[in-house]
Amino acid sequence: MGFVIAIDGPAASGKGSMAVRLGKALCLPVLDTGLLYRAVGVAVEQAGGDLDDETQSAAAAARLDLDDLESEAFRTRGAGEAASRVAVHPAVRAALLDAQRRFAAREPGAILDGRDIGTVIVPEAPCKLFVTATPETRARRRHLQLRAQNDPVTFEAILDDIRRRDTRDADRAAAPLRRAEDAALLDTTDLDIDAAFDAALRIVEASRGRWETS
Ligand code: C5P
Repeated sequence: MGFVIAIDGPAASGKGSMAVRLGKALCLPVLDTGLLYRAVGVAVEQAGGDLDDETQSAAAAARLDLDDLESEAFRTRGAGEAASRVAVHPAVRAALLDAQRRFAAREPGAILDGRDIGTVIVPEAPCKLFVTATPETRARRRHLQLRAQNDPVTFEAILDDIRRRDTRDADRAAAPLRRAEDAALLDTTDLDIDAAFDAALRIVEASRGRWETS
């Protein structure tokens, strides 16, 4: 295995932008695994299906085209909610497992961000980060992003979304959101995007040093 960086954490913790910046700095490809679940949720909804139906959701996951994850439709609030509903189904997670592991097997390495990368997808990853922040901080960040897209949603509605998603992601039986024991904890509550990136880079460089000499 190459140098794999597994980044997990709750919604809007800053892990996505951190993954992209680390990818540029280290010349490693990045997979935002949340997009896979978002694409499955949107596909089920567009087909008029039921997000709580495991068979329908798993069929949509099996049909997913990994080269077609760029749509703006996957970045909406509704897509995030739909993603977390289809993500509870073990058959959906199973259908998406191989593609994520193939991505992680790329040489000279890869960066994956999600909820279960360090615990389930690549438990042997040489570098693991668990990125978090208070729900209020995360809601404020997501609110700014959505307002920039002209979404008139209120801060309170986003905070509700985030709390509901956190609970669903952490309480589900299949691959719940939790920090792997060997993941470095990075709380970005009091850090801006540059400071969070610098802190992540320090953790990554320390892991890389250990990995290269092991
Ligand atoms: O990270 P993002 O907000 O795009 O993720 C959307 C939803 O997809 C999460 O709330 C979670 O339910 C699900 N997800 C997951 N496992 C991952 C990535 C995302 O269950 N590895």
